[in-house]
Amino acid sequence: MPPCRRIWAAQPVEVVHKGATALLQREGGFGSSALADLQAAVVAAGQVAQWREHYRAEEVGQDFLDRFGCYPIIGEGGPYSSAALRAWIVYMPPHLYYPWHEHQAAELYLIISGSAVFRKEGSADVTLRSGDTVFHGRNQPHATETGADPVLCLVLWRDDFEHAPMLSDLVKLQRDRAQLALPRVLTAQ
Ligand SMILES: [Fe+2]
Repeated sequence: MPPCRRIWAAQPVEVVHKGATALLQREGGFGSSALADLQAAVVAAGQVAQWREHYRAEEVGQDFLDRFGCYPIIGEGGPYSSAALRAWIVYMPPHLYYPWHEHQAAELYLIISGSAVFRKEGSADVTLRSGDTVFHGRNQPHATETGADPVLCLVLWRDDFEHAPMLSDLVKLQRDRAQLALPRVLTAQ
């Protein structure tokens, strides 16, 4: 059997905590998980991770920034780097709405624990639970909402890592502005 090709390398982590760091440590609402060992490892690793924010309060509101949790495993700020893959942990406490957003990377969510409603353009809404997965194609708008349960997810990205996620409303606004500007560019020539 040929040896596995290693696609990641270890790197140091500068630990940064956000509001969700303590929420995850205290979280008691996950219930039974098909991936209980992974859940325990992810919660423990959260204490020494670099928690990150991808949005501004003007975009998503301060409550979202205070409670939405995300830290990298593979990629910038995480304990491993890779040219082929990005991996994050995403944690959402109960009753939190992650608005419609999109990115150029293709994305796979694995639900570690808890549950949430996942929405994506062109598909019916689905409630996913521990062990379930959902795939988001490149630039496919999607959103997530928790109800009474929190959710803990492993998120993988491939194909394009240079472009951060953007709220779909802002993407549409930029497209509309570009279309409005186009006639002026053409008449100026
Ligand atoms: Fe996404």
